[in-house]
Amino acid sequence: ALIGKGNYRHFMMKEIAEQPTVIGDTLQAFMNPLERRIQLPNLPIDLAKISRLTIVACGTAHLAGFVAKYWLESIARLPVDLDVASEFRYRQAPMDPNGAMLVISQSGETADTLAALRYAKSLGQKVISVLNVPESTIGRESDLVLHTLAGPEIGVASTKAFSTQLVVLACLALATARARGAIDAAREAALSAALTEVPARVAEILNHDAHLKEIALKVAEARDVLFLGRGTSYPIALEGALKLKEISYIHAEGYAAGEMKHGPIALIDENVPVIVVAPTDELFDKTFSNLQEVMARGGRVVFLSDADGVRKLGNQAMAVVELPKVDPFVAPILYTIPVQLLAYHAAIAKGTDVDQPRNLAKSVTVE
Ligand code: G6P
Repeated sequence: ALIGKGNYRHFMMKEIAEQPTVIGDTLQAFMNPLERRIQLPNLPIDLAKISRLTIVACGTAHLAGFVAKYWLESIARLPVDLDVASEFRYRQAPMDPNGAMLVISQSGETADTLAALRYAKSLGQKVISVLNVPESTIGRESDLVLHTLAGPEIGVASTKAFSTQLVVLACLALATARARGAIDAAREAALSAALTEVPARVAEILNHDAHLKEIALKVAEARDVLFLGRGTSYPIALEGALKLKEISYIHAEGYAAGEMKHGPIALIDENVPVIVVAPTDELFDKTFSNLQEVMARGGRVVFLSDADGVRKLGNQAMAVVELPKVDPFVAPILYTIPVQLLAYHAAIAKGTDVDQPRNLAKSVTVE
């Protein structure tokens, strides 16, 4: 069927707005409704016994894998290697015989990701893939496909594919944690409940659209933009920077907030907006002190946090976006939405071709 933009100006905005629905659909596919807990299909590997998971992907899918590394290591106690496919495939990396590979791809056709999968298979690894197009080359060559139910994604800049990848990966992290005895039943129930609430929270965040548009107009005037975060907010900072670069052509960098003092702090002045991804989690105070270092140097902060964080900051920032207070486990899924909207509105302000940014392709089958 022909896919239209509906009432939206761009596919990208339509796809951003679809997220409450497609996140809900994806979650339902992995949630046992009676037991209210995550249930994965039969896996080709024993999650309790694997020694290591190697996650490989490109672009935005790689950043979903980056969030998954934090989840799988901290919640499921599973060591994770993560790399971009175009590096991994050429590195002749030894792979642990008791390990497995996870590839993540919207299209299932990215040449480098496919080559990484084939390399792993040549070493006898089992491969699980997280795909939006299961009937793809990567889908056919995987031992198991976990399907993101994002539906067709037309905008070149990935939005709903990314957030549904995060949902599938969160489910995988919980299932892995259970299999490995790394989580007790009460904690698992709490994290599953937090996931169940995500669609409604994402819908709430979409209501901040007009406010994010105002902020984006200021961001669009900048030549350089910095995104900061720690923990799972670090990959979201990277994703925010990637999205902004891709569609608005503004130079943006994502940085681990604690690493800022080792370089990017030299860039900070009143011309550089600094977008701080700061849910109140166990690392919030550390991120907050990095934010104060930015403000002390005249940096213009866009603060993405919840009511507790906003209360602590007061009105010192250039802009504040107050997001719902949630279990930190699901924060990366929710904080994705404002960075998507900032990029979208900055691109509109710049007058770029949002759905077809120059030089980029939706599916990259060249190496
Ligand atoms: C291209 C797209 C990105 C995407 C990346 C990986 O660069 O423009 O949005 O993240 O490829 O694509 P995949 O289909 O493997 O997720």
